[in-house]
Amino acid sequence: MFKKVLSYIASRWGGHYIDIGDTKAKIERIVSEQGSILDKYGFLENTDKSSVIAGNTRISMSHDYLRHYDFLFHSFRAEKFSLIEFGCAEGGSLRTWEKYFPSAQIYGVDLDENAKRHETERIHIVIGDATSTETFETLKASTGGNAFIILDDASHAWGDQRRSFELFWDLVSPGGFYVVEDLECGCLGAFPAYPPKVLDSQPFSEYMHDLSKILRWAPDRNPEENSYHFKHLPKNIQKIKREMDMCVFVPGAIIVRKKP
Ligand SMILES: C[S@@+](CC[C@H](N)C(=O)[O-])C[C@H]1O[C@@H](n2cnc3c(N)ncnc32)[C@H](O)[C@@H]1O
Repeated sequence: MFKKVLSYIASRWGGHYIDIGDTKAKIERIVSEQGSILDKYGFLENTDKSSVIAGNTRISMSHDYLRHYDFLFHSFRAEKFSLIEFGCAEGGSLRTWEKYFPSAQIYGVDLDENAKRHETERIHIVIGDATSTETFETLKASTGGNAFIILDDASHAWGDQRRSFELFWDLVSPGGFYVVEDLECGCLGAFPAYPPKVLDSQPFSEYMHDLSKILRWAPDRNPEENSYHFKHLPKNIQKIKREMDMCVFVPGAIIVRKKP
């Protein structure tokens, strides 16, 4: 019955809610049955990164990023590393990471000083702007200059996404990942607080697409360094391009891996 309800909501994506009363436990079971433990944790912690979110009286389909992250990250679950997330809000995603990566140190960054309430033994909060060099220096010192995963779930303005990416790429450890979420928000101006910024840049997805399409063809005869496109990139972007290993596009988000 509830699978039918969920598929109905899925088919009507875009803000259809139903009353669920006390059925959260049933939904939890369905999310688990879909096979992603990370999606289940996200659902239980109420982050909109999961496939479904439930309030007290209603549920809705959500971004559904966690199944993809589970696919890419599950083999690293037991390892010790630092994870940084820009944007804490209610702390749902920070607690999800804390559960999923039992040996990781989790760093949350937010402009809002109230985010400090999310601190635990392994969740550390930095109050600051995810696009600022000051925040970069603070996190560089706290993480020892290495973060295995960085996620940007902050303002969603395209210019901010790009500034943070270009600034924080250096902190990503070899073989690590940089994730940018909610690629569509830049054009929708979904957050009333951010409209002045939303169109200050090329969409982040197009920027990454441009970087991904510079060819690595016959590098012995035609090194990418000599290609027209590469030569015209600014030096800091050339460095990122050299270090990029893969770039995965999923609906609404981009996951970039640094060369191991
Ligand atoms: C979408 S919410 C984060 C949701 C959270 N990651 C989750 O999944 O549960 C966005 C948060 O980003 C914060 N934020 C917006 N712009 C920011 C910036 N430039 N630097 C740091 N935090 C920012 C907001 O204060 C807000 O708490």
